[in-house]
Order: sequence, then structure tokens, then C-alpha cells
Amino acid sequence: MSIVDIILKKRNGKFLSKEEIDFFIQGYTEGTIPDYQASSLLMAIYFQKMSKEETAYLTEAMMNSGQLVNLAGIEGIKVDKHSTGGVGDKTTIALGAMVAACGVPVAKMSGRGLGHTGGTIDKLESIPGFSVELSIDQFIENVNKIKIAVMGQTNDLAPADKKLYSLRDVTGTVDNISLIAGSIMSKKLAAGADAILLDVKTGNGAFMKDIDSSFELAREMVSIGNKMKRDTIAIVTDMDQPLGLAIGNSLEVKEAIETLKGNGPEDFTNLCEELGAYMLILAKKVSTVEEGKKMIQEVVKSGEALKVFKKFIASQGGDVDYIENIDLLPKSNYVYELKSEKTGYVSQIKAMDIGIAALLLGAGRERKDSIIDLSVGILLNKKVGDSVKKGEILANIHYNDELKKVLALEKLNYAYKITKDKPILRPLIHGIVSDTGIEKI
Ligand code: URA
Repeated sequence: MSIVDIILKKRNGKFLSKEEIDFFIQGYTEGTIPDYQASSLLMAIYFQKMSKEETAYLTEAMMNSGQLVNLAGIEGIKVDKHSTGGVGDKTTIALGAMVAACGVPVAKMSGRGLGHTGGTIDKLESIPGFSVELSIDQFIENVNKIKIAVMGQTNDLAPADKKLYSLRDVTGTVDNISLIAGSIMSKKLAAGADAILLDVKTGNGAFMKDIDSSFELAREMVSIGNKMKRDTIAIVTDMDQPLGLAIGNSLEVKEAIETLKGNGPEDFTNLCEELGAYMLILAKKVSTVEEGKKMIQEVVKSGEALKVFKKFIASQGGDVDYIENIDLLPKSNYVYELKSEKTGYVSQIKAMDIGIAALLLGAGRERKDSIIDLSVGILLNKKVGDSVKKGEILANIHYNDELKKVLALEKLNYAYKITKDKPILRPLIHGIVSDTGIEKI
């Protein structure tokens, strides 16, 4: 078999066999296929696309390129949740504890943030002492004991994807549905959960900007998951404006803790309840969404979810005083009030621009080795649909460096649209995709 023949075959629009895809993934992971040939094949895939079968073969080959985590030592049905990434997405932090408080094991491997979206691990590290450096044995023990643990993704989890994703990032081949689906699902499948809930973001701040391609990605991933014998459901949720009010590491942790106390913003609370209900369905704890939402609401109201969160943080070295008193969490030196220049309705808050503004403040990583500032970020005072008067605060910018604030403000000017008329609101949940079909709401 030759990699040149495989490139030509794909370039000419033909289907690749399982053997050819295995040959490529194995050769690229081992280094016998160089970057320039892998780039060429990726570009051919980008233009000629892949069939469902080819995408499944690619996923399986990447999954098998490294360690397959064995979670058999954890009692119960393990449900993993994955978000395709967004701005202000602190869902795992609150939702994990809610679901764990319902008695469902949450064994989560998370990543760090890159670009305009933040990562769960960075956010959690706002709590002094907290660490995700757990061995697999400790991870399993913690989940059995307190029902939740979060560890960093090991280097040996789907290493082919790691290498390919870095190459895609610099060769203009990220936004292809088969490549995204294969990349995400290879890691999810290797991480060993029994069932997978996917939160596929759609809109300005998401990978997939339009509804149809978001559903296409959701369908592709659900099909791969079910083919690999993991119960998989995808929920397509809105990411046109940021989720909740807080963007930036410690600001988001504060918002997640407030939500666990029952005082979270409406959209974020609703999303946690919806995703939580589906996780409980996948874990066979409840049989309807209504039942699931009720169970999630009850563990928040009773304080059980917050109790589990504290145990989880303490078990991974974090100082729980910072949960009891969130004012102790990292704070920026300065706060700038971004005011509206017009009276009217907030009709757009572009999530991408807000995410980039937070990145410019220092909340995110421009490069893999960038050091992030946990204290900076943006706290929205208005959401889309709210009325605003001239001079009223749209958002508070938490910053430590004047120049970074100026750069962030330039970006923020593009983020907002204030109109005379009230805008039509986008739904938070656009639809559910499962093996029983698509239910667009
Ligand atoms: N997240 C991933 O892990 N992979 C992609 O290709 C896109 C988003």
C-alpha cells in the first residue's frame, strides 16, 4: 500500500477502505508518513468529503492509536458529556456535581482551553490547590467514593488525533464534519464511558455557525457512537451569544458555584437541567426528560449538589473555603464599565467577539504555552432581548493590564448590536438527535 495512491484516490473522489485508513493513521502516528503527505490527504478529505463508513473507520483507527481507558472498576453506567466548545461554557463544573448528586457516576477527562473557548481544567484551577493530576486508579477510586472525578486527558489517549489536530489547525482543515466528528468521538470512545451525551453548539461562537451543519455534525457523531455500541445522544444548543453572564476562568467558577446554590443565570440553569436530564436518561436513572429535570432541580434545592461539589474539590486538593466564600477566588485589579451609547434593545452579543476579547484580556491561550490570567474576563450585565438605556452598563470588563483592556474594548465594539425593536430570541435548545431520529424543536 502506498500513501501516494491513497492521496490520489481521495483526491479523485473515491472511497477509502478500512485498510487504507488504518494504514494512514498508523503510519502518521508512527512518523513513517510525513506531515506534507498527511496535509495533502487532509485537504483531499476536506474537498471530497468522507462517507459515514469512512468516518467510522477513521474514528476507530484514531481511537485505537493509543490507550483505551478501562472504567470497568466503576460501579454503574458511566455517562460522559462533551461540549463542542463555546464562550462562557462552564457547564461541566456545575452539571457534573448535579448528576453525581443524583447517584450517577461522572468520570470526566477534560482538556485545557485554546483560542476563544476556555477549558474546564483551567477554570477549575482558579480554586487554589485543585489538581487534575490523578492516576487512573485514583480517578476510579474517587468516582466510586464520591461519584465524580475530573482528570486531564492523558497523552496516550488517541495520540493520532492529537497529532492530526495540530496539523489541521495550521493547514486550514479544521472545519470538516467528518474530521471533527472523528476527532471528538475517537477521544470519547477511548475514554471508556458506557454512554455519551454531546452538547453540539451552534451559532456565532461555535465551530458550526449554522443550524443545518450543526445537526449534520450531531447526526454523524451519534451514528458513530451507536455503531461503537455506546448509547449516544446529541443536543444542539445555542452559542450565538455567550452562555450565562460570566466569561473568564474565576468569574465562570463563581457563576457555576452560584448555579449549584440555585442562584445561576436563567439560560445556564436551564441548560444544566436539560443536559442533566438526558445524562440521567442515558444512565437509566429516569425515563423521561421531565423526571430528569425534576431530579436535578431537587438536588440543587436540597443542597446535595453543592455538597458533592465540595467533596469533589477537596478530594482533588482544592481549598473548599473558596467555595463557601467565592469572594476569595482570584480577582482582577480593575473593572471597567462598558456602557451603551444608545437606548433600545440588545439584539446581538456576538459570542466569538466576546470570546476573543476575553482572550485578549489574558483569560485564554493564544498559543499552547501561553500563561493564562485566572482573574480577568467579562461579566455581562445585559443579554440579548434586554432593554437598555443610553449610559447603562452592558458589561463589566475585569482586567489587570491597560493595553490589554484597550485591545479587548476594540473587539467588544463589534460584539454588540443595539436596535430600536426587540429582537426575535433564538431558542436555547435547537433540537435533540438520537438513534430514534431527529427532533428539531
Ligand atoms: N474539538 C476536537 O476535539 N476536535 C475537533 O476537530 C474540533 C473540536
